[in-house]
Amino acid sequence: MAQGIFISIEGIDGAGKSTHIARLATLFRERGRTVVVSREPGGTPLAEKLRALLLNEPMDSLTEALVMFASRREHIVDVIAPALERGDVVISDRFTDSSFAYQGGGRQFELGVLQSLESWVQGVVPTNAASRTTIQPDLTLWFDLPAAIAAARLAASRAPDKFEAESTQFFERVVEGYRRRAATHNERIVRIDADHPVEHVWEQVQDVVLARLGVASGQH
Ligand code: TYD
Repeated sequence: MAQGIFISIEGIDGAGKSTHIARLATLFRERGRTVVVSREPGGTPLAEKLRALLLNEPMDSLTEALVMFASRREHIVDVIAPALERGDVVISDRFTDSSFAYQGGGRQFELGVLQSLESWVQGVVPTNAASRTTIQPDLTLWFDLPAAIAAARLAASRAPDKFEAESTQFFERVVEGYRRRAATHNERIVRIDADHPVEHVWEQVQDVVLARLGVASGQH
């Protein structure tokens, strides 16, 4: 049986993750893999309800962090762990690095608390994920884009949610949050330079995924 693969996709709002998530899913499916595409916050009926609160209701920073991780726990137990045990490829639009970037960087919330939440939520492995000792992505693609460029892209697209309505300074701190996180987790997080036309960005994505996961050679 194929081994499960967990990939998370990260970056500030407007960095262009969606196009590449769809293409990545196609790439794996063309190679015969079953792919589960999901997102955070969200991914289960309960977690989607929490998402609606998180994206629309003002709340205390600790409350926000707790609800983010509560929705993550639901996502892990109901979707990610069973899919990995089946040998599927899970592609999640955002995971814990978003909490370090947005709550830790953007909101300047204590990283130590986030680290504790991470070890509770991902270190207590659900019974349906027996082959893993912790739930952590095998590969994270971080779409890095300067905050000002992302803001210009977003302004043209849609009505902003609670996070998207934040200032450019907030997003500069989010980018810095990602940079710090990528520096301390460089075995897993790969930076994609998203300040290029979509085809150029896609080439980078493909190169990283093929080199890291050996999709083309059928190793998984
Ligand atoms: P996003 O994934 O960008 O969805 P959409 O493209 O539909 O707007 O929106 C989710 C928002 O939630 C995004 O602004 C980042 C924020 N977020 C956090 O602040 N912390 C987290 O841990 C996660 C997963 C998301």
